Amino acid sequence: MEKKDQLLSEQGACPMGNHEKSTVEPEAAEGGCPMAYGGITSGGHTSLTYNSYLKVEDLKSLQICQSEPAHHDEPLFIIIHQTYELWFKLIIHELDLVVELMKENRVRKATHFMKRVSAIMKVLVAQIHILETMAPRDFLGFRHKLNPASGFQSSQFREIEFMAGLKDARMLIHFQSDEEAYASLTRRFNNETLGDVFYDLLRRHGFKLPATKPSDDEETARKLESQRIRELCRMYEDETLTDLHDLAESFVDLDELISLWRTHHVTVVERIIGFKRGTGGSEGVAYLRSTVNKRCFPELWNLRTALV
Ligand code: HEM
Repeated sequence: MEKKDQLLSEQGACPMGNHEKSTVEPEAAEGGCPMAYGGITSGGHTSLTYNSYLKVEDLKSLQICQSEPAHHDEPLFIIIHQTYELWFKLIIHELDLVVELMKENRVRKATHFMKRVSAIMKVLVAQIHILETMAPRDFLGFRHKLNPASGFQSSQFREIEFMAGLKDARMLIHFQSDEEAYASLTRRFNNETLGDVFYDLLRRHGFKLPATKPSDDEETARKLESQRIRELCRMYEDETLTDLHDLAESFVDLDELISLWRTHHVTVVERIIGFKRGTGGSEGVAYLRSTVNKRCFPELWNLRTALV
């Protein structure tokens, strides 16, 4: 039996029907590229088709409903989360490159790829509203089946936050039962952030950006921060520093878009579940609202107040 037919017969009539685990075998990735397509080479493979290259049948087999019989709206809920995770994967891929480019002092290239990240983020902000076509009572038709799974456990979302500078060790708790995610998140947690690498780049361009040490008292830390902010203002005042300014602004774009995503997400959440607690155990809307003003690059925001 062909793989496609086998998948369909195992799933029964409804392509979104339940089954315990996916029948898709992970294939070994080729080459060094983390985005490599297993089993298919890009050059000279005569049987390459749109569907085989993009693994469309495999993709279509990955929506496994928990409700039984499958609730009509559960595929929407699964697919929207899966598309977010795919875009998160690409964002992480791009941010890793941006870090490397900054280390090589390739400022314009780094800005170029940050623009791609922003373009993706704009889609992610808009996309959440598709969920508003799901009526609150329809969601209640399968929500109980999702417990205790929650957006808290999106390791890629946390990876992006950690890379962008929002490191909160308490978030690691949600991944203790997922060895792989825990290990990669811990690695990200200990790694330098985009901001760290950007500041090092600026130091190589002659910016005096004194680092705060954990042993510094509050007053010293405040003084050092205002010194850094004064120095960062130069990017916004001196037109010969346009390339650095544009890169800095691309980080502010990312920050703003993450915050916009949070705002749109919590609004949709309130519209669908009101003030019910989250499946991950948080207060729900109240918790999500408390995250809206988090800033990944606080000094790039604060310098605006200092500009004259
Ligand atoms: C019906 C739609 C949705 C509802 C009702 C919902 C609800 C919630 C709630 C209540 C939380 C707080 C954590 C908890 O206690 O579980 C949360 C967190 C989260 N959700 Fe959603 N969500 C929805 C859709 C989505 C979608 C489409 C995504 C896309 C990735 C998403 C990603 C996240 C993330 C990343 C968090 C963690 C946010 C943080 O801690 O800052 N959610 N969600």
